[in-house]
Amino acid sequence: MIHFAQQVFHLATNNTSYLIGIRNNKYIENLYYGNKIKVTENYEALQERFGTGYGNSVGTPDDAMLTLDNLCLEYSFGGNGDYRHSPFEIRMPDYSYSNRFYYQSHEIYEGTFRENEETKLPYARYGEDATTLEIVLHDQKEKMDLILVYTVFPSCDVITRRTILKNNTDSVVRVERMMSLQLDLPEADYDMETFDGSWTRERHATRKHLESGVYVNESTTGSSSNRHNPLILVEKRECTEMTGACIGVNLLYSGNHYEAVEVTPYGKIRILTGIHPHRFEWFIKPEETFYTPEAVLTYSSKGRHGVTAQFGTFVNQHIIPKQWQKRERPVLINNWEATYFDFTERKLLKLAKEAANLGIELFVLDDGWFGKREDDSSSLGDWFVNEKKLGGSLRQLSNKIHDLGLQFGIWMEPEMISENSELYREHPDWAVRIPNRDCYVGRNQYVLDLTRQEVRAEVVGRITEILRNGNVQYVKWDMNRHLSDAYSASLGERQGEFYHRYILGVYEMMKQITEEFPDILFESCSAGGNRFDLGMLYYMPQIWTSDDTDANERVAIQEGTSCGYPLSTMGAHVSAVPNHQTLRSISIESRFNVACFGVLGYELDLTKLSMSSKKIVKEQIAFYKKYRALFQFGSFTKSRMHNGNIIWQVVSEDKQQAIAMCYQQLQKPNTSSDILKVIGLDPEQLYHVEARKQAISIKQFGDLVNQASPVPIKEEGILQTIVNQVYTLESESESYDVYGDLLELAGIKLKQQFVSTGYNEETRVMGDFSSRIYLISSKAL
Ligand code: GLA
Repeated sequence: MIHFAQQVFHLATNNTSYLIGIRNNKYIENLYYGNKIKVTENYEALQERFGTGYGNSVGTPDDAMLTLDNLCLEYSFGGNGDYRHSPFEIRMPDYSYSNRFYYQSHEIYEGTFRENEETKLPYARYGEDATTLEIVLHDQKEKMDLILVYTVFPSCDVITRRTILKNNTDSVVRVERMMSLQLDLPEADYDMETFDGSWTRERHATRKHLESGVYVNESTTGSSSNRHNPLILVEKRECTEMTGACIGVNLLYSGNHYEAVEVTPYGKIRILTGIHPHRFEWFIKPEETFYTPEAVLTYSSKGRHGVTAQFGTFVNQHIIPKQWQKRERPVLINNWEATYFDFTERKLLKLAKEAANLGIELFVLDDGWFGKREDDSSSLGDWFVNEKKLGGSLRQLSNKIHDLGLQFGIWMEPEMISENSELYREHPDWAVRIPNRDCYVGRNQYVLDLTRQEVRAEVVGRITEILRNGNVQYVKWDMNRHLSDAYSASLGERQGEFYHRYILGVYEMMKQITEEFPDILFESCSAGGNRFDLGMLYYMPQIWTSDDTDANERVAIQEGTSCGYPLSTMGAHVSAVPNHQTLRSISIESRFNVACFGVLGYELDLTKLSMSSKKIVKEQIAFYKKYRALFQFGSFTKSRMHNGNIIWQVVSEDKQQAIAMCYQQLQKPNTSSDILKVIGLDPEQLYHVEARKQAISIKQFGDLVNQASPVPIKEEGILQTIVNQVYTLESESESYDVYGDLLELAGIKLKQQFVSTGYNEETRVMGDFSSRIYLISSKAL
């Protein structure tokens, strides 16, 4: 709902208020953002006071005491005495960087922004209950309009924002920086949380204590990047997981992004997010409009978890394509870590057969099925099936996979070109590079110049051809390098537009392809999670979270990712040990327990598993399928036990069912009990809590096994290996009937962990990187 009275806009979601005032009929001032407050229609108390001015600061032409530098502005413009970090730099037709964008008019209407389609950018959609406000700021001298657009999504407590510049002059205007959102708030006691990392270490949460100055979170790699995700949390110092004020900001964009939080000299904060100004310059011709990407804003007084939950609902309801909303995703087998490039039709079918036996539903053929690709040095761009390797056409292979009862999917990397490819030999100028200069390569490949229409058309043609003929139900859309040498032969002096035009080109291709094949499940991937953002999720409902499949690393990666993105968007696979990224060995049960909080897959050679491991995997998949809706669409919460052990939980919307996992990184000898607390269930409801039975390898006991075994079993000996292949121990039984309030407030004291004094049914054998899953069902069910 948006209400306007006495020069004040009240943007109200179910639980929050965002108040904007028009001051002196010119300046747009932020009056409040936080929990919902009563509208008294007397807003004076919320306005900043300027009594005698501030020393050497600059006043406005009509009120010398009014220092814009100390006003919470909704958007600052150039040359106005506001010296804080600027959202906006444009070169005006008079070549100055000064402008006067003053309030002119506004409009409030039902639904989302009317020009969403014209932006050529992904946007928050399906806004049946949304309301939009457009505030037009006008520069009288140059006849230009700067428009602030707000859309309110009441039920998920989200407000989106974007900024538009309309050039009504008769000369070209150059934009050098134009943020989607500026949010000024009157207090400065905040911390900032960012989601940082690198390849195989994506989105680790990092909390920074904000003191005076500007804190930047950015990507200049050409994509949203694994270095710093566009998601940021700005939280009051006392904010915890479940309590305190937290503001979440994200950007619906997959290219270079820039977020800054400034603690200002007057003890306020300014938050900015938008396209990175790095090497950015956009020429707006007369009559043209420039649209920034949409920024997404949410507030919760219930800690980080409040923001996580609101973002989760928002993504599932307003970003993910309609046909994939609440649609359960299949359990897949991917052959990448099982075979890498070294496969034949026989090998693939053997793997598929085993997968089908174990209950898997989708077979994904990863890299290496096209052109002459036997390693990563060739063939990107040559999207022609290698029939020799596959023993026939893609359709023939896909039919054979279907005959086994599995769906069929393929890997592609449409944005790339290998130097050693037919495509490059035909069109060397299609690679992004600067003429007459040597060129930097990443993974032996170049990026295609997708700013050019003819390049996009050719790629889309080749890909749709494969998809039309291949009988394919799934595509993994990869993008395996950062951009460098940004340049397009088509752009002339407008090279500053390259990065944004590249991503607009990607979006256009994704739109064409995903709209032509709405029933294909697309999973975005960029060397794992290098492009995990809202823009990608607009086209593709899930993303390969990380190339790192080590369960211990995944705990940090999936936790960080969950702060802005729901579990249904996160691909999570069980892979072999020692793990291919970390060489760490974690039990197959613990690998599963972490991977099932997301969209489950397996990525290892199932044919090489022992009999006992196959049995375990079969049981895991059956369990996951039974509770898949909960794992993919349940409300996710992360918490910590008093001893630091991790708890993850998912709760169904009606609170009748929940699953909790406790995860222990390192075993501590003879220490405190684990206490399982589950948050957010119905306090009045009686629940049955039951530990999922897990297999425990006898190898875990080493030579201690001889304390119980009638025959001597040598550690690492043949007998131990043989016994282990066919036989495992069962984890402890544990079950309770308890009310929701007990579960949340007191918690369940779980059975004692193994402490070397013996082993019986009252002992939980855990160890390093170990975990348990507990199923919690309402007794009313
Ligand atoms: C990237 C992906 C992997 C795999 C390889 C194939 O690294 O993230 O999952 O598909 O490419 O080359």
